[in-house]
Formats: sequence, structure tokens, C-alpha cells
Amino acid sequence: MIKHESIETNVGLLIILSLVAMGIGGLVEIVPLFYINDTIEKVEGVRPYTPLELRGRDIYIREGCYTCHSQMVRPFRDEDLRYGHYSLAAESQYDHPFQWGSKRTGPDLARVGKKYSNEWHVQHLIAPRSVVPESIMPNYPWLLENELHYADITERMRALKKTGVPYAESPAEHAANVEKFGEAVANQLNINDAEKNLLRAAEADNFDGNPARLSEMDAMVAYLQMLGTLVDFNQYDEGYFAEFR
Ligand code: HEC
Repeated sequence: MIKHESIETNVGLLIILSLVAMGIGGLVEIVPLFYINDTIEKVEGVRPYTPLELRGRDIYIREGCYTCHSQMVRPFRDEDLRYGHYSLAAESQYDHPFQWGSKRTGPDLARVGKKYSNEWHVQHLIAPRSVVPESIMPNYPWLLENELHYADITERMRALKKTGVPYAESPAEHAANVEKFGEAVANQLNINDAEKNLLRAAEADNFDGNPARLSEMDAMVAYLQMLGTLVDFNQYDEGYFAEFR
């Protein structure tokens, strides 16, 4: 048996045994990540973004909204009371890159969907201080002025598909999506129909208040309004913080 003192006084042996100990720790932590698809719990309702939401998300990233807003409700009582159920890993499963953020100059947005009307969002994004006088959020008036470019939507979806987001191109992939998400959602995830779906979504719900034009605001509000709305947390209300609500 090796005495502890002989390890501590022998630099070579100490280094080797330390590396072995760290190696075991590393393997235990890292190897499960290679099976990440199995380690993220499946949660009903979670789906990839529709084409219009996806464009909104891209604009959210372009404008740097993540520098002031997080999208992760942490599992603490105060967070739960303010924002709602803490975020689940599955909710950002299709986010590439994820928008968890690391700084909150403004509030967390992970559950902002359906909290306000479309009109409120449009007004707030054009001129935040017109609805929240003490706000320090910048004005984003160009979102309403800029026409929405969507010619490259199929390429954007294809790129995400490469990272593992189940957008479908072949009939077999589409069939798999129908099984996984149901017909209505699967149709939205079909890359071949992306433009049609995008235009239809913008027409069906007039996000920016001007049905005649398709603006970046349409996409941005469509995105904001779906954040945190995919999972029905009422069915989990027995949860950890339910007693505080
Ligand atoms: C300089 C920091 C900053 C940036 C950048 C920023 N915001 Fe904000 N945001 C805030 C602050 C502060 C508030 C709280 C006051 C208010 O409601 O205006 C806020 C509030 C919000 C709210 C309301 C949240 C709620 O629950 O009441 C939304 C939605 C929002 N921001 C969206 C955006 C979007 C979209 C962008 C990017 C286009 C953006 N913000 C960029 C600081 C910022």
C-alpha cells in the first residue's frame, strides 16, 4: 500500500495520480454530453421556431437585445414569483445559439410571450419611454420601417438543420415530424414551404399593425409573443414552487 506521505513527497507520482483523479472526474462530467439528445428531458409542446419567428429571433440577435435581456428563469423563489416557472433545458433545445444571456439590464424575456398585446410591443420597441417612462431601453424605430427580408429563409433553416434542429426537407423527415409534433406543427417545419408559411403567419396575425406591409417588426413581435408559451406549466403546477404562488 502506498502511504500518503510518500505520494506527497514524490512530485512525479503526485502529478500522475492527480492526473488520473482529474481524468476520472473529467470523463464522468464530459462523456454524458456526447449523448446530449438523451440527457435533455423531452417536454411536450417544445418545437423549433416557425419561419417568421426564426426571422424575428435573427433580428433579436442582430440588434443585440441579449446584451440587456436574459432568457433563462433561474430556479429561485423570487425568479419564479416574478417571471413564472423556471426555464427547462428543453425550452432552449432548438436555440442555436442559445439566448440565456449573462446580464439583465432589462427583465428576463424567457416568458414574455402573451404578457402584452402586439400593439404594446410595437409601441414599446419604437419608443420604450412612451409606455414605460422610466425605461432606459433604446428606441428601435427602424424595425417598423425596414421591410422584412426573407428570401434566404430556406438557407437559414437548412443551416439550423445541420446543427440538429429537425426542419424537414424530404418526405421521410416530414413524416417523422408529423409523428413527433403533430401535423400542424410539422407543416410549419417544412423547409420547402418556408416562404409560404412565413407570409401566411404574418397575414394571419397582424403583428405590426399594418397589414399592407411585411416589416421586421412583424417578425420581432411574432418571436417575442411565442417566448415561453410552448409548455403548458399548469399541468406541472404541483411543482417545486407551487406552494408560494
Ligand atoms: C440598454 C439595454 C436594453 C437593450 C439593448 C434592450 N432592452 Fe429591452 N428593456 C430594457 C429595460 C431597462 C427594460 C425595462 C423597462 C421597459 O419596459 O422599457 C426593457 C424591457 C423590455 C421588454 C418588456 C419586458 C417586460 O416583461 O415588461 C421587452 C419585451 C423588451 N425589453 C424587448 C427588447 C428587445 C426586443 C430588444 C432588442 C431589439 C431590447 N429589448 C433591447 C433594456 C434594454
